[in-house]
Amino acid sequence: MTIKEVLKWSCIHLVESCERPQFEAELLLAHHLDKDRIYLVTHADVPVENIEAYEALIKRRAAHEPYEYIVGEASFYDIHLKVAPGVLIPRPETELLIDEVAKIIEREAITSIAEIGVGSGAISVVLARRFPNLKIVATDICEAPLRIAGENVEAFGLGEQIILRKSNLLDEVDERIELVVSNPPYIAEDFKLEENVLAYEPKEALFGGRVGDELLKQIILDVKARGIKWLACEMGYDQKVPIESFVNEVGVKSVRFYKDLAGFDRGFVIEFE
Ligand SMILES: C[S@@+](CC[C@H](N)C(=O)[O-])C[C@H]1O[C@@H](n2cnc3c(N)ncnc32)[C@H](O)[C@@H]1O
Repeated sequence: MTIKEVLKWSCIHLVESCERPQFEAELLLAHHLDKDRIYLVTHADVPVENIEAYEALIKRRAAHEPYEYIVGEASFYDIHLKVAPGVLIPRPETELLIDEVAKIIEREAITSIAEIGVGSGAISVVLARRFPNLKIVATDICEAPLRIAGENVEAFGLGEQIILRKSNLLDEVDERIELVVSNPPYIAEDFKLEENVLAYEPKEALFGGRVGDELLKQIILDVKARGIKWLACEMGYDQKVPIESFVNEVGVKSVRFYKDLAGFDRGFVIEFE
């Protein structure tokens, strides 16, 4: 089959699992051929080699497996990160958390931070690249994220800046830390997630407890107890009210909530006394 024919066949197979079957078919074929998408247009009549391997990719996508797990890579901020099953695919809204943290790091001349729940390393890698003097201790409770984050840290040559550590929250972090950043699991246990997210992405990265904000609240308490001045977290669109009243009970110098590009509440920045 030629490239043109293969794309037509792929679209038919992807129509139920993908919102944009033509686009995803092109991405997967470009990945299979190790070419860019323009090549598919300029070489439409060239036969596709090793078609069985490509069909296997299409079958995985047709079964709703996320594109990023199939190609082993996710694009995030200004980089491409390795991802794998067991590790959350970084989401575009988390780029806003990075921007919030970057503003504080710049303004307060911060040089030592911790990240709770490193996942693929998305947050820590972007921040370390942006601030070459920044030292980061990045924790995760699961092995797979620590392994993949390690590969990303190495791929970007950031081993001097980012220390990865298996830890529940900050339990194993005894370094002096000025700011904590986290995109923790914050979804309620019974929330109906999309099939492909539920079937493929790690539960430890998604669910924050019965209500969903349990881990966020624990992080607020831990950071305050450690005497760390700044905390920035991503949260669910419906968690502003409970987090705000919790923060008022706990007592902080200030709390500011930020919204995502769709206008939903998406996170907060706390300054402790
Ligand atoms: C929503 S993912 C975020 C991953 C990455 N930081 C990102 O933004 O793409 C949450 C991560 O927190 C980790 N995690 C869950 N509970 C944790 C805990 N108690 N302590 C440390 N990490 C935890 C999960 O394994 C997962 O990798």
